Formats: sequence, structure tokens, C-alpha cells
Amino acid sequence: MKVLGIESSCDETGVALYDTERGLLGHAVHTQVAMHEAYGGVVPELASRDHVRRLIPLLERVLADSNCARGEIDAIAYTAGPGLAGALLVGASFAEALAMALGVPAVPVHHLEGHLLSPLLADEVPQFPFIALLVSGGHTQLMRVARVGDYELLGESLDDAAGEAFDKTAKLLGLGYPGGPALAKLAETGKPGRYKLPRPMMNSGDLSFSFSGLKTAVLTAARAAELTEADRADLAAEFQEAVTEVLAAKAVAACRQRRLSSLVVAGGVGANRRLRQRLDAAMAKIGGRVFYPELELCTDNGAMIAFCGAQRLMQGELPALGKGAFAVRPRWPLAEIS
Ligand code: KG4
Ligand code: ZN
Repeated sequence: MKVLGIESSCDETGVALYDTERGLLGHAVHTQVAMHEAYGGVVPELASRDHVRRLIPLLERVLADSNCARGEIDAIAYTAGPGLAGALLVGASFAEALAMALGVPAVPVHHLEGHLLSPLLADEVPQFPFIALLVSGGHTQLMRVARVGDYELLGESLDDAAGEAFDKTAKLLGLGYPGGPALAKLAETGKPGRYKLPRPMMNSGDLSFSFSGLKTAVLTAARAAELTEADRADLAAEFQEAVTEVLAAKAVAACRQRRLSSLVVAGGVGANRRLRQRLDAAMAKIGGRVFYPELELCTDNGAMIAFCGAQRLMQGELPALGKGAFAVRPRWPLAEIS
């Protein structure tokens, strides 16, 4: 079965074709970073309009790369939420219309479920059940994954998500959008420990997170004195240490608590090198192992959506054909789909 995946929840347009027998046949992503850069963040209306422009050319490219004709598509999966309402509507209406034209099912997919399952597209995959650490721009969550579709929320951020904290702190340090990768790059040239930042909720005894205080602490340090380039690098390094230390400690705590040795990491912050180092080391200590998506599938893409839709279809969830009506859910807690 060949499933087309469409992702348009934020500032990346992603299209992919996944074959349940042969794996990923092709995938292409267009990132809107250059367009939003001038504004210092994502402008929702511009994002929607750009998705409209990109979808058809991306579809043509993926079909050509996969050596497939449109008629060979068996189902179309698309991100139905959470995300920006207008951006989601572009992908949803495109997918639903194409599905109706081709006479195949359209499968609405939860964006975070897509991230969560993306490590299963890698060569080496974890066995169920496992613990998943979801670290994206909008979410920081620890989940126990029993199987596809069975997600138990163990803990989450009470305020800013880890990616959001990276982005906001990057802005404070004068780095452009997208802040996460820029801050991580600057951190590599700095020394942690010279500035002292808190490790929020490290000893809270539960699996909750809080990252908004870190950003305030960085702001306080930045206001106290004129920062040199070296100061900014040291501050970035300490910030990265603080976030990754808490994330790693709580992920390991979740594995211990549930007596599981496989940890899956998904979402944009999962691309962070320091986080990977820490998680690998901490999990090795308890005889466990960390599974990551391919680096290019850490951030938003259509492959994870196609894969997720395929899993749902294989579980026997057959959506209505050509129903002609659909809805998107800009806010949609993942635990609701279990
Ligand atoms: O999963 P994602 O692509 O989109 C959402 O669904 O949110 O995650 C984007 C987030 C952004 O906050 C971005 O700054 C962050 O992931 N990010 C990183 C890195 N690469 C992306 N944060 C820290 N280090 C990175 N290398
Ligand atoms: Zn995402």
C-alpha cells in the first residue's frame, strides 16, 4: 500500500510517499525560513499562502523521485492538527480534494503522533512499549507508548516548550529566527558554568518541566552588563546545559519509573547534539538505549505523516471515502487520540 503524506502545520511544507512493503519511496520538504526571517518569527497568513504555492510542485517532485504515477496512490494522510489553523486548512483541503479525485481514503493525522512514530522509519527500531520524549517548538512531553495509537502522557511542560525556550532565548541573545539551531551553534563555542542558570524542576519528584524561568534568567544576565560575543556564547552554552540536563534526567526517570529500557526522541529539539550526547550517556548507564529519527526527519516533514497514516490504515482504521467534509484542530492534545 502506497500512502502519500502531507504536512503543512507550520512553516514547512512536506510531501512524502511511503510504501508499506518497500518503505519510504520519496520525500521533499520546503522550508519557509527565508520568508519569515525578516519578521523574526512565523507570520501565519504568509505561511498559509506559501503552502498553497508549494504543495503541487512538491507532489510532482516526490512522485517523479518515487517513479510513481498519481493513480498508484492508495491513501492520503495529512496533518489535521495541532498547528496554525490556516496552514492546516491548506494541507487538509489539498489532501481531501486529491483523495476525492483519486477515489482513495484520506486519513487525518495528529502532528505529534507523526513525530512520535518517526524513529520507526529508521533502520533500527525500538520494540513496544517504549518511552517517548517529544521535544518540539510547541510541546515538551514524556509519553509511554504501548503500541501505535496507545499513548499515556507521563509529564509535560507547565509553561514554555523546550523548543520555544530555545527560540525565545535566542532572540534575547540577538540571534535570528529560527533560534534553536542558531543558539545551539553559538553554545558550541562557549563555556558552560561561567554563568549559573537554574535547572528548573530538577527535583520536583515528578515528570513535569518548566522552561520559562530560564529565559528570564538569561534576560537578567543580559541586562546586568553589556555582553561581549564571548559572554553570549557562554550564556548560550549554560542555557543549553540547563535545558538538556533537565530533559535527560526526566527522560531517564520516566524509563526507570516504567521499567523500560528503550527511549525514543522526536521533534525538532531532538536534533540538538548536546541533548543526544546526554541522553545516550544517561540511558547507557541504566542499560538502556535511545532511538532517534534520521536527522532530516527530526523537524517537520511529510514522511512521518505518511508513515503514521499507513500504520493507522494497517490497524484497520478505514476512514470514510470521499466524505467531502473535514475539520482541522489547531489545538489537539495527543492523549485524546488513545
Ligand atoms: O518539531 P519541529 O520542527 O516543529 C514543531 O512541531 O514545533 O520543532 C521546531 C523546534 C524549534 O523550536 C527549533 O528552534 C527547535 O525545534 N530546534 C532546535 C534544534 N533544531 C531545531 N533546538 C535546539 N537545538 C537544535 N539543534
Ligand atoms: Zn513538528
